[in-house]
Amino acid sequence: MSDRNEQIILATRPHGRVATSHFRLVEGQLPQPREGQVLVRNLWLSLDPYMRWRMNEGHNYAEPVELGAVMVGATVGEVVTSHHPAFHPGDHVIGNLGWQSYGVAAAAELRKIEHRVLPLQAYLGVVGMPGITAWIGLMDILAARAGETLLVTAAAGAVGSVVGQLAKLNGCRVVGVAGGSTKCLYVENELQFDACLDYRSARLEDELADTLPDGIDCLFENVGGPLFDQMLHCMRDFGRVALCGMVADADAQAPHALRNLRAVLVKRLHLKGFIVTDHPQRWRVAQNELVKLVAEGRIKYRETVAHGLAEAPAAFVGMLAGQNFGKQLVKLC
Ligand SMILES: NC(=O)c1ccc[n+]([C@@H]2O[C@H](COP(=O)([O-])OP(=O)(O)OC[C@H]3O[C@@H](n4cnc5c(N)ncnc54)[C@H](OP(=O)(O)O)[C@@H]3O)[C@@H](O)[C@H]2O)c1
Repeated sequence: MSDRNEQIILATRPHGRVATSHFRLVEGQLPQPREGQVLVRNLWLSLDPYMRWRMNEGHNYAEPVELGAVMVGATVGEVVTSHHPAFHPGDHVIGNLGWQSYGVAAAAELRKIEHRVLPLQAYLGVVGMPGITAWIGLMDILAARAGETLLVTAAAGAVGSVVGQLAKLNGCRVVGVAGGSTKCLYVENELQFDACLDYRSARLEDELADTLPDGIDCLFENVGGPLFDQMLHCMRDFGRVALCGMVADADAQAPHALRNLRAVLVKRLHLKGFIVTDHPQRWRVAQNELVKLVAEGRIKYRETVAHGLAEAPAAFVGMLAGQNFGKQLVKLC
């Protein structure tokens, strides 16, 4: 075992578009676990849009990363040393150990991966936080019913791809929106959505009208920005909106000012924002169901993998620019 701990820290705060220069690779000491703690070698790091908000100053729904601190992030790793009876060397664990090769956590902050049936990294993606976000947003927030039309934005991504497939399994008609024809073809052909529209197309407005003649019952909104304005316009009366993310604003100098908020009033929409970590009681049931569906091949997934911690900043910048296909991960060893 090396005594070096490679880490990526937040070097400067971006104002607008994030770049690799906002991060720095440093070498820290190998952390030493105290009583009740566990030392973990991180094998996989998850890159998620929420991290961009944590790079800004000021409280979001969570505190920002301090300048000079290790970037936050979910990890899957292997226990190296344990000072807690529930964990043993070699155990695989999920934690929030950040962008670094090793991390220490209290036992209560780690979840052991038991009875594993899928590759380790799937526990950061399709059956991890993003998949669980999809499940909770669809089942609990939207409560989408068979026969309803559901639209999901960022449809080829980690959350969106699971939302659409779950909605199809529940009998909905599902339309995705994604960036570019390659992603749209994947969403239609491999994920089996009923349709997928390219939001970069000059004909988007007409295509929305053609594809959604009766409007949208359930909108799973991952993007925000001008696209959200267009989606609100397409909602049916009394439709429901689960506001999951606003990634279009992540790199913006100023948030997009919605022009179509009046649609919420005149169409009597139900709009609800949600954060997956507010629903811990639903994680186990959601994960069990997702694991089963993935293992049976009824939910498909893709991953985009960067190799080595040093590649994490570029992969993160690329993900926000839409270069990922499905879940963006970093393989650490
Ligand atoms: N509420 C919660 O608890 C929760 C939990 C997890 C994730 N989220 C949110 O869910 C959303 C999706 O997250 P994810 O992890 O699944 O990421 P993802 O979709 O795998 O990756 C981000 C995608 O966002 C799209 N995008 C970026 N900028 C865009 C823009 N200006 N307009 C349209 N699309 C844009 C890109 O796809 P295209 O190539 O299609 O443009 C990119 O691939 C994010 O907003 C995230 O913050 C919320």
